[in-house]
Parts: sequence; C-alpha cells; structure tokens
Amino acid sequence: PWQHSLLLLYTVLSECESAKTQNLKRKFPNDFRFGAATAAYQIEGGWNADGKTESIWDHVAHTKPCAIDNCSNGDVAADSYHLHKRDVEIMRELGLDYYRFSLSWPRILPTGFPDKINEAGVQYYNNLIDEMLKYNIEPVVTIYHWDLPQKLQEMGGWTNPYIIDWYTDYARVAFELFGEKVKNWITVNEPEQICYFGYGNNLHAPLLNITGVADYLCAKNVLLAHAKAYHVYDEEYRPNQGGAIFISISAQYYDYEFKEYKDAAEDANDFTWAIYSHPIFSKYGDFPSSVKERVKAKSIQQGFPRSRLPELTPTEIETIRGSSDYFGLNHYFTFYVYRNESVKGLYPCPSKDDDLEVAIYQKEEWKGGQINVNKIVPSGFYKLLTKIKNYYNNPPVIITENGFATKRGLDDDDRVTYITLYINAMLDAIDDGSDIRSYTVWSMMDSLEWLGGFSECYGLYEVDFESPQRTRTPRKSAFVYKQIVRTRELDW
Ligand code: NOJ
Repeated sequence: PWQHSLLLLYTVLSECESAKTQNLKRKFPNDFRFGAATAAYQIEGGWNADGKTESIWDHVAHTKPCAIDNCSNGDVAADSYHLHKRDVEIMRELGLDYYRFSLSWPRILPTGFPDKINEAGVQYYNNLIDEMLKYNIEPVVTIYHWDLPQKLQEMGGWTNPYIIDWYTDYARVAFELFGEKVKNWITVNEPEQICYFGYGNNLHAPLLNITGVADYLCAKNVLLAHAKAYHVYDEEYRPNQGGAIFISISAQYYDYEFKEYKDAAEDANDFTWAIYSHPIFSKYGDFPSSVKERVKAKSIQQGFPRSRLPELTPTEIETIRGSSDYFGLNHYFTFYVYRNESVKGLYPCPSKDDDLEVAIYQKEEWKGGQINVNKIVPSGFYKLLTKIKNYYNNPPVIITENGFATKRGLDDDDRVTYITLYINAMLDAIDDGSDIRSYTVWSMMDSLEWLGGFSECYGLYEVDFESPQRTRTPRKSAFVYKQIVRTRELDW
C-alpha cells in the first residue's frame, strides 16, 4: 500500500511538472515588440564601394590582418550592400516588427565631415529602408556601431573632445537624410566596447591600450557626443519628425559566490556599465561614486597629482542627465567576481588593469555553450534587469541585443535554449514590474564577429561565407523565434 501511495504521489507530482514544462504559455504585454539586429561593418561588405572610405575596422583588418580570428575581414562579409532585398525577405520570414541595423559613417561621409555626402551610400540605406517600410517593418537605426572613419582616428578619435561635434554633425546628417522615415534612433552602440576595448585594452579597433586614461577620456566624449545628438534631435527634429532616440549600453551582470566579494561585484558593475549609464539615467547625472573614489585613490597612490578620471562639470552633467528616451540594453553574459590583485588577463577581463582590481570567471546554470565565453545564466539577466529598475526608478527598457554564439550548422539547439530561457527571465522581470518594451535578438544572421571572425556564429540565419551568393538559411532558432513573434507567447 505505501508503494501505491508513493506511486500516486509521483503521478500527481509529475503531472504538475509536465503541466509546468509543457503547457504553460507565457504572454507578453500588449504592444510588446520583437526585432533582430545587425551592424554595418559586420554584414555590409562593399568596404570601398562607390566612394566609401576606410573605417578603423577596415584599417585594423587591412594593416594587422590577423587581429580578427582566422585573419578574416569585413571586405565582403555577408554582402548585404548588394543583398538588402534578401535581408528584408528574412525579416518578413521571421515576422519581425522591426529591424535594427547601423549606418556606416564613412559610407555616408567619406571624409568624416558633412562637406561631402556620398550619394551612393545614402541610396543604399534608402533602398533598404524603403523595402522594409513596404512591408511595415520598422527601421531602428544605430548611428554609430564602431566603424569610425579612419581619418578621424588619426585626429585622436574618441579621445579628442572635438569628436563631440564631429559626431553630432554626422548625426544631424542622418536625421536630415532619413528622419522622415526612421522613428527610432540609437546614438551609439556599447560605449564600453568603444572605449575600454578600443582605447583601454587593445582588443578592438583602434587597438590602443592607454589604460585608465584614454578609455576614460573616451567615456566622457562618448557620453557628451550621445547627449548632444540627443538634444539636437529633441529640439530640432523631434518636433517635426516625432521619433525616439536612445543609447545602447552593454551590461553584463557581475555576481559573486562568496559574500566577501559583494563589493567587488558592485565595483565591476559600476566600472563596466554603470560608468556610462549613471550619468544618463541616475538623478545625480555623474559617474558612480565608487568609480570616482577608486580612480582618484589609485591615481594619487601612483603619484598623479589629479584623478585620471575626467570630471563632469555641472553644465556637462545637465547636458547628459536624462538624455535618453529608453535604456537600450545589450546583454549576453553573467560573470562571477573575486578580488585578487595578482590575477589578470581573463577574457574578457574588465579589470581596468589597475583601477578595478577584480578577477572574473564564468559558470553556467544550463548546459550549452560550444564557445567558451558564452555560458547560459538566465537568472543573471533577471538580476540585471531588476538592478536597472532599482537604480534608475524603473526606466523604459528596450533590449537592443541578446543572443548566443554557436559554431556553424543549422541545428542550433543551444541557441534555442538560450533564447527561450532569456526571454523567460525577461518575462519574470516584467512580471515583477520592470518596464521592458521590446526584445531584439542578436543577430538576424551570421556576420563578421569582431574578434571571433566568421567561426563565431550568432545568426538565426546561417550565412554561407564560402559561396559567392552568401546564401542565407534559417536555423532551428529562426523557426522558434518566428513562432514566438507570431503567437506572442512563449511556450514554457
Ligand atoms: C555586441 C555588439 O554590439 C555586436 O556587434 C556583437 O556582434 C555582439 N555583441 C556579439 O559579440
């Protein structure tokens, strides 16, 4: 008899369990929107077509040919410069509400400045946008996704404060040219990768590693460039064009396993992303105090008479504070943190070499991840969204990127697992009050991954980079995402 009771109990429990795992359909809020993203250098190719000049990424790939895995470059990439119609077909196949892509600065302004506008480049973007609008797919346009005109880098790039004006002039050209049709603008993509990876630790173009100085100068200039473009749009274009403008910040979540590292984890979140988001979204409008204090203390200890972290003046704080209609969030990973001054060099090590002083490692909650930097930790996404809600009084959030890298192949079960679990974690955050408006998969199709080249694949669609046609084929994840977008439900 006790075996019977056990059996009964087991049956009841397993029925509950299967109800939970098979039949639960989670709904999205009304008006929730779905998209997918790419960026110019990663997909377009046509690196010198019709008057386009070199960007810093072209320059790195051409002059240090093995900076990108397998000595790859973006000269042809997915050839979207010639295949925009096929790209729009993919958007339709997926049923996307919107598509996020970026404008190439040197394709539109070959000198970097508005003295010469490259009509052929403008035509390419008009063709793409018009084709999308034909099918009611909304363009979400990133003005700057890392492909700075090389000539501007030779004038100091993002460390030169004049870039605030160079960038604003370029943004103004974008609003003039496309603002009638484009109603969602992303000013800059991922300041951490622009500044720290580009100027602080030698990972991304322009491959500089003036750590703790150039990366901080860049941070200030990126924030001001973003904010100035925001105000130009807000004051001069929004009244007639009526759209939204915001920044995309990459925030990985830094957690701790042992409570003595709680502060270290806080510092890691502050140094890697809150350094960019606090000035815009917090009511103080300044860098996080932990960053200010640590950098100052370290600078003095190193014999510098002043902090290496530039100050934001009260006027600058006023300009930057509140200058984003949404919190655009790119999220991929959770890292665990400990404080150990002797451990450096873990990829991607956010230690700011000297100022942050933490070491990181990864773990995963769910099995998966053929590519070692990509572990599946959906609870980290939930915690991050909750932190953003609490930090900034529940700002409206647009997930501008979330996705997973696999090797080549159409059976991308790991990506299916990742996307499903992360969307589920996002729904948990929404249930708990986070104001999240839309979700964007990175990426709609395979592209040139900045460090991983063509072997690190993020696409819902596989691109055959060996074939001259750059054939695009849906992976399993494309069908799963399409189903979510169509039904507006997550099978859970
Ligand atoms: C963030 C970047 O914005 C995007 O360009 C990149 O490909 C993905 N992360 C994946 O690494």
